[in-house]
Amino acid sequence: MEGLRLIDVGTNLTIKTQQERGGQAGNPFESPAFKAGNRISLDATYIFDAPGPGSICRSDVESLIPDVLNAHRMLRNREGDIYDHDIPMTGWQDLPTKISPSYLAEITSVARELGKEIDAYVSLGIGGSYLGIEASFKALTHTYFNQLTREERGGAPEIYFLGQNMDPDFFRDTLDMLRGKRIAVNVISKSGTTTETAVAFRIIRKLMEENWGRDADRLILVTTDRTRGALKEMAGKRGYRTFIVPDDIGGRFSVLSDVGLVGLAMANIDIHEFVAGFRTMRDIASVDDFWSNPALVHAALRHAAWRAGKKIEVVATNAVSLYSVARWMEQLFPESEGHEGHGMWVSPSLYSEKLHANGQMVQEGERNILETFLFLKSHDNQVQIPKMDNNLDGLDFLVDRGMDMNAVNRMVVDGPAYAHYQGGVPNMTIEIPRRNTFNLGQIYYMMETSVAISGYLLGHNPFIQPGVEAYKRAMFALIEKPGFEADARDIKERLKERERIRI
Ligand code: PA5
Repeated sequence: MEGLRLIDVGTNLTIKTQQERGGQAGNPFESPAFKAGNRISLDATYIFDAPGPGSICRSDVESLIPDVLNAHRMLRNREGDIYDHDIPMTGWQDLPTKISPSYLAEITSVARELGKEIDAYVSLGIGGSYLGIEASFKALTHTYFNQLTREERGGAPEIYFLGQNMDPDFFRDTLDMLRGKRIAVNVISKSGTTTETAVAFRIIRKLMEENWGRDADRLILVTTDRTRGALKEMAGKRGYRTFIVPDDIGGRFSVLSDVGLVGLAMANIDIHEFVAGFRTMRDIASVDDFWSNPALVHAALRHAAWRAGKKIEVVATNAVSLYSVARWMEQLFPESEGHEGHGMWVSPSLYSEKLHANGQMVQEGERNILETFLFLKSHDNQVQIPKMDNNLDGLDFLVDRGMDMNAVNRMVVDGPAYAHYQGGVPNMTIEIPRRNTFNLGQIYYMMETSVAISGYLLGHNPFIQPGVEAYKRAMFALIEKPGFEADARDIKERLKERERIRI
């Protein structure tokens, strides 16, 4: 039997975009027409007065406006509880205007040159040194990127992520995908000491050196602190090419720095357009007119919801490509807000899939949920639904009304937004006109601003994560890392006293 031919389904426009990216003349995304057609907006139609307990009303939000505006002013002026080791961690605010086109061109050219030499690029990192890169990559590229031909990928090498967990099977499986390929690796860690990343780097580096000797050094990139840390030292000794995680930018706010830019350029994503998206939202989010500023409104709505007892934020999307952006938000918000018993748990959800799972809970479970949709209005591709003999599934009416899969997919947001509201779940929708780098930059900057304002409203520093450091210490102690002997003794004592319950 012959293999499946794709008849009448047209060209995949995601592939076409991948191939054309980078080849466009000038910066079309700077034009007013482009900007007008690519404006992220916030629809809060279903936020106020949901039936049932814990609803929020307009006056709850109105009463927060003075505090929100004050927080906005303090953020701009770098005031308040925003320091980590005496450094105000607000450098992400300036990145969109500070990064020069020539610097972007330099990164692009490094990525192009190295990219040509290799079959696969491996990005090593965890948390903020991983999620934003993977989210952007998945948001913008073909779902099965690595299985496409090089030409279909727009000339980019295959892209892999490691160091984000300690699962030996996952690690080993990924090595199989790299077998026989010429690879480059970018090890990304601001501290340079994160165990998961460091272990992955050891293994990959050893393999590379065994294969290519000192020639491997050229294929190793290091993205770390400007002056300090183990990676910085190693890079100095071995002459690895280094990129910088700026002092005043924390991991989860770093996607627009070298942390994200190098990997995105490697995947043939236009980083000039990425910066333009950030810059555009920076302008939009700088105004003090509360109801015209989506970042401020977003922060205030979430805060009002939290005060009203909403402890879970379901971030749901109708686009597989944006699910990873919801995962990025799952890190950004809880890692920043989860202090002193505060904060909302973020649950990334891909609809329709999750409507057939936790959708029941959203509709009828405990009313402690806020829902935020990441609504992709226009997908890359149109998929037509065909007629069927005898209309056995009763869906011919869709075809008769000219509705394609895209039209039905809209309802995956419109339907739940209405039904969940009626069931007592306030919700809001971030409307994303289309899947492109510019829009992605806007989403990131809006969310970063929103979570920073949230920190002021909650009354604590959103730019530190002592809770994450606590797990790192416990893990070091348990694996008996030198220097953590006292912690190890302490844990052993505590565990001795603890009743073991094993069933
Ligand atoms: O947002 C953050 O700061 C964290 O998620 C870090 O990015 C994460 O812990 C990884 O740290 P590092 O880059 O030091 O390896």
